Amino acid sequence: MGIKILGTGSYLPPKVVTNGDIAASLDTSDEWIFSHTGIHARHVAGEGETTSSMAAEAAREALEMSGVKPEEIGLIVVATSSPDYGTFPSTACIVQDLLGCVNAGAFDLQAACAGFVYALEQARGFVNFYPDKKAIVIGAECLTRILDWTDRSSCILFGDGAGAVVLGNDEGPGMASAKTTAHTILGADGKGQAFIMRTGGTREAPKFDPLTGVPLKGEPQLPQLTLQGHDVFAFAVRKLSKVVGDLCERLGTTPESLDRVFAHQANGRIIEATARRMKLPLSKFWLNLETTANTSAASVPISLDQAVRAGELKDGMRIVLVGFGAGLTYGGTYMTWPNL
Ligand code: UT7
Repeated sequence: MGIKILGTGSYLPPKVVTNGDIAASLDTSDEWIFSHTGIHARHVAGEGETTSSMAAEAAREALEMSGVKPEEIGLIVVATSSPDYGTFPSTACIVQDLLGCVNAGAFDLQAACAGFVYALEQARGFVNFYPDKKAIVIGAECLTRILDWTDRSSCILFGDGAGAVVLGNDEGPGMASAKTTAHTILGADGKGQAFIMRTGGTREAPKFDPLTGVPLKGEPQLPQLTLQGHDVFAFAVRKLSKVVGDLCERLGTTPESLDRVFAHQANGRIIEATARRMKLPLSKFWLNLETTANTSAASVPISLDQAVRAGELKDGMRIVLVGFGAGLTYGGTYMTWPNL
Protein backbone atom coordinates (compact mmCIF):
# COMPACT_ATOMS: atom_id res chain seq x y z
CA MET A 1 0.00 0.00 0.00
CA GLY A 2 1.08 3.58 -0.57
CA ILE A 3 4.05 4.83 -2.54
CA LYS A 4 6.36 2.14 -3.84
CA ILE A 5 9.42 1.63 -5.95
CA LEU A 6 7.99 -0.62 -8.67
CA GLY A 7 11.18 -1.29 -10.59
CA THR A 8 14.88 -0.50 -10.75
CA GLY A 9 17.46 -0.35 -13.52
CA SER A 10 21.03 0.68 -14.12
CA TYR A 11 23.56 1.14 -16.87
CA LEU A 12 27.35 1.14 -16.80
CA PRO A 13 29.21 1.84 -20.04
CA PRO A 14 31.17 -1.17 -21.35
CA LYS A 15 34.46 0.75 -21.53
CA VAL A 16 36.52 0.21 -18.36
CA VAL A 17 39.53 2.32 -17.37
CA THR A 18 41.71 0.79 -14.67
CA ASN A 19 44.02 2.58 -12.26
CA GLY A 20 46.87 1.07 -14.26
CA ASP A 21 45.54 2.73 -17.43
CA ILE A 22 45.57 6.12 -15.67
CA ALA A 23 49.01 5.47 -14.22
CA ALA A 24 50.35 5.05 -17.75
CA SER A 25 50.07 8.81 -18.30
CA LEU A 26 49.87 10.30 -14.81
CA ASP A 27 52.17 10.20 -11.77
CA THR A 28 50.05 7.77 -9.75
CA SER A 29 49.68 4.04 -9.17
CA ASP A 30 47.08 1.37 -8.60
CA GLU A 31 48.56 0.88 -5.13
CA TRP A 32 48.09 4.58 -4.16
CA ILE A 33 44.62 4.90 -5.63
CA PHE A 34 43.29 1.66 -4.15
CA SER A 35 44.80 2.23 -0.72
CA HIS A 36 43.45 5.81 -0.51
CA THR A 37 40.04 5.27 -2.14
CA GLY A 38 39.11 1.60 -2.50
CA ILE A 39 38.85 2.10 -6.29
CA HIS A 40 40.47 -0.21 -8.86
CA ALA A 41 38.57 0.78 -12.02
CA ARG A 42 35.75 2.89 -13.40
CA HIS A 43 33.36 2.73 -16.36
CA VAL A 44 33.80 5.55 -18.86
CA ALA A 45 31.25 6.64 -21.45
CA GLY A 46 32.37 5.77 -24.96
CA GLU A 47 31.81 7.57 -28.21
CA GLY A 48 28.09 8.13 -28.76
CA GLU A 49 27.24 7.58 -25.11
CA THR A 50 25.87 10.54 -23.18
CA THR A 51 24.27 11.24 -19.83
CA SER A 52 20.84 11.01 -21.50
CA SER A 53 21.58 7.76 -23.35
CA MET A 54 22.81 6.11 -20.14
CA ALA A 55 19.84 7.51 -18.21
CA ALA A 56 17.42 6.14 -20.80
CA GLU A 57 19.05 2.67 -20.70
CA ALA A 58 18.69 2.56 -16.90
CA ALA A 59 15.10 3.80 -17.08
CA ARG A 60 14.18 1.22 -19.74
CA GLU A 61 15.30 -1.54 -17.38
CA ALA A 62 13.34 -0.01 -14.50
CA LEU A 63 10.22 0.29 -16.68
CA GLU A 64 10.58 -3.32 -17.79
CA MET A 65 10.86 -4.57 -14.20
CA SER A 66 7.89 -2.44 -13.09
CA GLY A 67 5.59 -3.45 -15.95
CA VAL A 68 4.71 0.24 -16.33
CA LYS A 69 4.25 1.59 -19.88
CA PRO A 70 6.04 4.76 -21.01
CA GLU A 71 2.73 6.56 -21.53
CA GLU A 72 1.76 5.97 -17.86
CA ILE A 73 4.69 8.11 -16.71
CA GLY A 74 3.68 11.59 -15.52
CA LEU A 75 7.09 12.86 -14.41
CA ILE A 76 10.74 12.25 -15.17
CA VAL A 77 13.35 13.73 -12.84
CA VAL A 78 17.00 13.34 -13.77
CA ALA A 79 19.49 14.11 -11.02
CA THR A 80 22.74 15.05 -12.70
CA SER A 81 25.69 17.41 -12.46
CA SER A 82 26.94 16.49 -15.93
CA PRO A 83 23.96 17.11 -18.22
CA ASP A 84 24.19 16.60 -21.99
CA TYR A 85 24.18 20.36 -22.50
CA GLY A 86 25.48 23.14 -20.24
CA THR A 87 21.99 23.97 -19.08
CA PHE A 88 19.19 23.47 -21.59
CA PRO A 89 17.55 21.47 -23.01
CA SER A 90 17.43 19.41 -19.86
CA THR A 91 18.72 15.86 -19.95
CA ALA A 92 15.29 14.81 -18.64
CA CYS A 93 13.58 16.17 -21.78
CA ILE A 94 15.95 14.17 -23.98
CA VAL A 95 15.23 11.06 -21.90
CA GLN A 96 11.49 11.74 -22.17
CA ASP A 97 11.86 11.68 -25.95
CA LEU A 98 14.11 8.59 -25.98
CA LEU A 99 11.65 6.63 -23.84
CA GLY A 100 8.48 7.86 -25.56
CA CYS A 101 6.99 9.06 -22.26
CA VAL A 102 4.60 11.32 -24.14
CA ASN A 103 2.53 12.23 -21.06
CA ALA A 104 5.44 13.12 -18.79
CA GLY A 105 6.74 16.43 -17.53
CA ALA A 106 10.52 16.36 -17.27
CA PHE A 107 13.22 18.31 -15.47
CA ASP A 108 16.79 18.00 -14.24
CA LEU A 109 17.68 18.38 -10.60
CA GLN A 110 21.13 19.47 -9.54
CA ALA A 111 22.10 18.57 -6.01
CA ALA A 112 25.37 16.89 -6.98
CA CYS A 113 26.01 13.50 -5.38
CA ALA A 114 22.98 13.91 -3.06
CA GLY A 115 20.85 14.48 -6.18
CA PHE A 116 19.13 11.10 -6.30
CA VAL A 117 17.83 11.42 -2.73
CA TYR A 118 16.58 14.94 -3.51
CA ALA A 119 14.96 13.77 -6.77
CA LEU A 120 13.27 10.81 -5.12
CA GLU A 121 11.65 13.18 -2.63
CA GLN A 122 10.36 15.43 -5.46
CA ALA A 123 8.87 12.45 -7.27
CA ARG A 124 7.41 11.06 -4.06
CA GLY A 125 5.55 14.35 -3.60
CA PHE A 126 4.32 14.14 -7.20
CA VAL A 127 2.90 10.61 -7.03
CA ASN A 128 1.45 11.38 -3.61
CA PHE A 129 -0.83 14.00 -5.16
CA TYR A 130 -1.28 12.38 -8.58
CA PRO A 131 -1.62 8.70 -7.69
CA ASP A 132 -2.96 7.84 -11.14
CA LYS A 133 0.45 8.75 -12.58
CA LYS A 134 3.83 7.08 -12.25
CA ALA A 135 7.22 8.75 -12.04
CA ILE A 136 10.75 7.87 -13.12
CA VAL A 137 13.66 9.06 -10.98
CA ILE A 138 17.12 8.78 -12.50
CA GLY A 139 20.63 9.55 -11.31
CA ALA A 140 22.94 9.80 -14.33
CA GLU A 141 26.45 11.16 -14.80
CA CYS A 142 29.10 11.54 -17.44
CA LEU A 143 31.61 13.20 -15.11
CA THR A 144 34.68 11.80 -16.85
CA ARG A 145 34.07 14.43 -19.55
CA ILE A 146 34.47 17.35 -17.14
CA LEU A 147 37.48 16.12 -15.19
CA ASP A 148 40.91 17.66 -15.24
CA TRP A 149 42.79 14.53 -16.32
CA THR A 150 46.09 16.13 -15.25
CA ASP A 151 44.92 16.49 -11.62
CA ARG A 152 45.76 13.17 -9.97
CA SER A 153 43.94 14.00 -6.74
CA SER A 154 40.53 14.33 -8.45
CA CYS A 155 40.46 12.52 -11.83
CA ILE A 156 41.08 9.11 -10.27
CA LEU A 157 37.88 9.31 -8.24
CA PHE A 158 35.08 9.38 -10.78
CA GLY A 159 33.24 7.12 -13.21
CA ASP A 160 30.17 7.27 -15.47
CA GLY A 161 26.84 5.49 -15.29
CA ALA A 162 23.14 5.74 -14.49
CA GLY A 163 20.55 4.22 -12.18
CA ALA A 164 16.79 4.58 -12.22
CA VAL A 165 13.62 3.71 -10.32
CA VAL A 166 9.93 3.80 -11.23
CA LEU A 167 7.56 5.08 -8.53
CA GLY A 168 3.86 4.40 -8.16
CA ASN A 169 1.13 5.03 -5.56
CA ASP A 170 -2.02 3.02 -4.91
CA GLU A 171 -3.55 5.46 -2.39
CA GLY A 172 -5.83 8.46 -2.99
CA PRO A 173 -4.42 11.94 -3.59
CA GLY A 174 -2.44 13.08 -0.54
CA MET A 175 -3.24 9.92 1.41
CA ALA A 176 0.12 8.19 1.15
CA SER A 177 2.01 11.09 2.68
CA ALA A 178 -0.62 11.48 5.41
CA LYS A 179 0.03 7.90 6.48
CA THR A 180 3.80 7.88 6.27
CA THR A 181 6.11 8.86 9.11
CA ALA A 182 8.69 11.60 8.49
CA HIS A 183 11.47 9.76 6.81
CA THR A 184 13.48 12.12 4.65
CA ILE A 185 16.09 14.71 5.55
CA LEU A 186 17.34 17.13 2.91
CA GLY A 187 19.99 19.68 3.82
CA ALA A 188 22.65 22.00 2.51
CA ASP A 189 25.64 23.96 3.75
CA GLY A 190 26.51 26.65 1.22
CA LYS A 191 29.50 27.70 3.31
CA GLY A 192 31.25 24.72 1.75
CA GLN A 193 30.49 25.90 -1.81
CA ALA A 194 34.19 26.02 -2.75
CA PHE A 195 34.95 22.45 -1.66
CA ILE A 196 33.74 20.88 -4.92
CA MET A 197 33.19 23.09 -7.94
CA ARG A 198 32.66 22.91 -11.65
CA THR A 199 34.16 26.04 -13.15
CA GLY A 200 32.55 27.88 -16.06
CA GLY A 201 28.98 29.16 -16.01
CA THR A 202 27.68 32.73 -15.99
CA ARG A 203 29.50 33.95 -12.90
CA GLU A 204 32.33 35.35 -15.02
CA ALA A 205 30.94 38.22 -17.12
CA PRO A 206 32.44 38.38 -20.63
CA LYS A 207 35.10 41.07 -21.03
CA PHE A 208 34.62 43.82 -23.62
CA ASP A 209 37.12 46.03 -25.39
CA PRO A 210 36.56 49.41 -23.66
CA LEU A 211 36.96 51.30 -26.96
CA THR A 212 34.95 49.19 -29.39
CA GLY A 213 32.60 47.36 -27.05
CA VAL A 214 33.48 44.16 -28.92
CA PRO A 215 33.72 41.06 -26.70
CA LEU A 216 37.38 40.11 -26.18
CA LYS A 217 38.29 36.66 -27.36
CA GLY A 218 40.29 34.82 -24.76
CA GLU A 219 41.05 31.22 -24.03
CA PRO A 220 37.68 29.55 -23.57
CA GLN A 221 37.47 28.35 -19.98
CA LEU A 222 37.00 24.59 -19.97
CA PRO A 223 34.43 23.65 -17.38
CA GLN A 224 36.31 21.38 -15.02
CA LEU A 225 35.86 19.83 -11.66
CA THR A 226 37.95 21.08 -8.74
CA LEU A 227 38.03 19.42 -5.36
CA GLN A 228 39.30 20.11 -1.83
CA GLY A 229 39.45 16.45 -0.88
CA HIS A 230 40.19 16.73 2.86
CA ASP A 231 37.32 19.14 3.51
CA VAL A 232 34.85 16.99 1.58
CA PHE A 233 36.05 13.86 3.36
CA ALA A 234 35.45 15.36 6.82
CA PHE A 235 32.03 16.76 5.84
CA ALA A 236 30.99 13.43 4.34
CA VAL A 237 31.80 11.30 7.37
CA ARG A 238 30.12 13.80 9.71
CA LYS A 239 26.95 14.14 7.63
CA LEU A 240 26.48 10.52 6.58
CA SER A 241 26.49 9.34 10.16
CA LYS A 242 24.39 12.28 11.41
CA VAL A 243 21.69 11.88 8.74
CA VAL A 244 21.38 8.12 9.30
CA GLY A 245 21.35 8.63 13.09
CA ASP A 246 18.76 11.43 12.92
CA LEU A 247 16.46 9.46 10.60
CA CYS A 248 16.55 6.48 12.94
CA GLU A 249 15.94 8.68 15.97
CA ARG A 250 12.89 10.29 14.30
CA LEU A 251 11.47 6.86 13.63
CA GLY A 252 12.17 5.67 17.17
CA THR A 253 14.72 3.13 16.06
CA THR A 254 18.49 2.76 15.98
CA PRO A 255 21.02 2.32 13.15
CA GLU A 256 21.71 -1.24 14.37
CA SER A 257 18.15 -2.13 13.33
CA LEU A 258 18.85 -1.21 9.69
CA ASP A 259 19.28 -4.08 7.26
CA ARG A 260 21.26 -2.10 4.69
CA VAL A 261 22.66 1.38 4.12
CA PHE A 262 22.94 2.62 0.53
CA ALA A 263 25.37 5.49 0.98
CA HIS A 264 26.78 7.59 -1.82
CA GLN A 265 30.18 6.09 -2.58
CA ALA A 266 32.78 8.79 -3.10
CA ASN A 267 35.65 6.99 -1.43
CA GLY A 268 35.64 3.63 0.33
CA ARG A 269 37.56 5.19 3.24
CA ILE A 270 34.63 7.58 3.82
CA ILE A 271 32.27 4.61 4.14
CA GLU A 272 34.68 2.80 6.46
CA ALA A 273 35.06 5.88 8.68
CA THR A 274 31.28 6.34 8.72
CA ALA A 275 30.72 2.70 9.67
CA ARG A 276 33.27 3.03 12.50
CA ARG A 277 31.70 6.25 13.74
CA MET A 278 28.25 4.65 13.74
CA LYS A 279 29.55 1.38 15.21
CA LEU A 280 27.96 -0.49 12.31
CA PRO A 281 29.58 -3.43 10.54
CA LEU A 282 30.83 -2.50 7.07
CA SER A 283 28.73 -5.39 5.71
CA LYS A 284 25.58 -3.26 6.21
CA PHE A 285 26.81 -0.87 3.49
CA TRP A 286 26.33 -1.76 -0.16
CA LEU A 287 29.76 -1.36 -1.78
CA ASN A 288 30.59 -1.40 -5.49
CA LEU A 289 32.99 1.48 -5.96
CA GLU A 290 35.97 -0.82 -6.42
CA THR A 291 34.75 -1.22 -10.01
CA THR A 292 32.47 1.81 -10.52
CA ALA A 293 34.37 4.59 -8.67
CA ASN A 294 32.31 7.64 -7.70
CA THR A 295 29.33 7.96 -10.06
CA SER A 296 27.89 10.93 -8.15
CA ALA A 297 24.07 11.14 -8.43
CA ALA A 298 24.04 7.68 -10.06
CA SER A 299 25.80 5.86 -7.25
CA VAL A 300 22.80 5.22 -4.97
CA PRO A 301 20.36 4.04 -7.69
CA ILE A 302 23.03 1.86 -9.37
CA SER A 303 23.64 0.22 -5.99
CA LEU A 304 19.92 -0.25 -5.38
CA ASP A 305 19.47 -1.94 -8.74
CA GLN A 306 22.48 -4.19 -8.22
CA ALA A 307 21.17 -5.22 -4.79
CA VAL A 308 17.69 -5.95 -6.19
CA ARG A 309 19.06 -8.02 -9.08
CA ALA A 310 21.44 -9.90 -6.77
CA GLY A 311 18.42 -10.84 -4.62
CA GLU A 312 19.95 -9.04 -1.65
CA LEU A 313 17.25 -6.40 -1.26
CA LYS A 314 14.08 -8.13 -0.11
CA ASP A 315 10.61 -6.79 0.68
CA GLY A 316 10.34 -5.50 4.23
CA MET A 317 14.03 -4.69 4.67
CA ARG A 318 14.69 -1.45 6.53
CA ILE A 319 17.12 0.60 4.53
CA VAL A 320 18.50 4.12 4.34
CA LEU A 321 19.56 5.88 1.14
CA VAL A 322 22.00 8.65 1.98
CA GLY A 323 24.16 11.03 -0.02
CA PHE A 324 26.30 14.16 0.16
CA GLY A 325 27.94 16.29 -2.45
CA ALA A 326 28.88 19.62 -3.97
CA GLY A 327 27.01 22.63 -2.71
CA LEU A 328 27.45 21.28 -0.13
CA THR A 329 24.32 19.13 -0.08
CA TYR A 330 23.24 16.12 1.91
CA GLY A 331 20.13 14.02 2.24
CA GLY A 332 18.77 10.72 3.45
CA THR A 333 15.63 8.64 3.11
CA TYR A 334 14.57 5.81 5.39
CA MET A 335 12.30 3.26 3.78
CA THR A 336 10.93 -0.21 4.27
CA TRP A 337 11.71 -1.67 0.88
CA PRO A 338 9.99 -1.12 -1.53
CA ASN A 339 7.64 1.31 0.28
CA LEU A 340 8.36 5.00 0.60
O1 UT7 B 1 31.35 12.89 -4.24
C1 UT7 B 1 32.12 13.83 -3.56
C2 UT7 B 1 33.40 14.10 -4.30
N1 UT7 B 1 34.66 13.88 -3.73
C3 UT7 B 1 35.03 13.34 -2.56
O2 UT7 B 1 34.28 12.95 -1.79
C4 UT7 B 1 36.49 13.27 -2.25
C5 UT7 B 1 36.78 13.12 -0.80
N2 UT7 B 1 38.21 13.11 -0.53
C6 UT7 B 1 39.02 12.09 -0.88
O3 UT7 B 1 38.54 11.08 -1.37
C7 UT7 B 1 40.49 12.19 -0.57
O4 UT7 B 1 40.73 13.40 0.12
C8 UT7 B 1 41.40 12.11 -1.84
C9 UT7 B 1 41.37 10.69 -2.39
C10 UT7 B 1 40.91 13.09 -2.91
C11 UT7 B 1 42.84 12.44 -1.50
O5 UT7 B 1 43.33 11.51 -0.55
P1 UT7 B 1 44.19 12.01 0.69
O6 UT7 B 1 44.55 10.81 1.45
O7 UT7 B 1 43.37 13.06 1.37
O8 UT7 B 1 45.48 12.58 -0.01
P2 UT7 B 1 46.08 14.05 0.12
O9 UT7 B 1 45.23 15.00 -0.67
O10 UT7 B 1 46.34 14.35 1.56
O11 UT7 B 1 47.46 13.89 -0.60
C12 UT7 B 1 48.53 13.18 0.02
C13 UT7 B 1 49.64 13.05 -0.99
C14 UT7 B 1 50.01 14.35 -1.67
O12 UT7 B 1 51.41 14.34 -1.89
P3 UT7 B 1 52.38 15.20 -0.96
O13 UT7 B 1 51.93 16.62 -1.10
O14 UT7 B 1 52.16 14.67 0.43
O15 UT7 B 1 53.73 14.92 -1.52
C15 UT7 B 1 49.33 14.27 -3.00
O16 UT7 B 1 49.99 15.00 -4.01
O17 UT7 B 1 49.23 12.16 -2.02
C16 UT7 B 1 49.44 12.80 -3.29
N3 UT7 B 1 48.41 12.32 -4.20
C17 UT7 B 1 48.60 11.29 -5.00
N4 UT7 B 1 49.66 10.46 -5.17
C18 UT7 B 1 49.53 9.48 -6.08
C19 UT7 B 1 47.16 12.82 -4.39
N5 UT7 B 1 46.53 12.11 -5.33
C20 UT7 B 1 47.41 11.15 -5.73
C21 UT7 B 1 47.35 10.11 -6.66
N6 UT7 B 1 48.44 9.29 -6.80
N7 UT7 B 1 46.27 9.87 -7.41
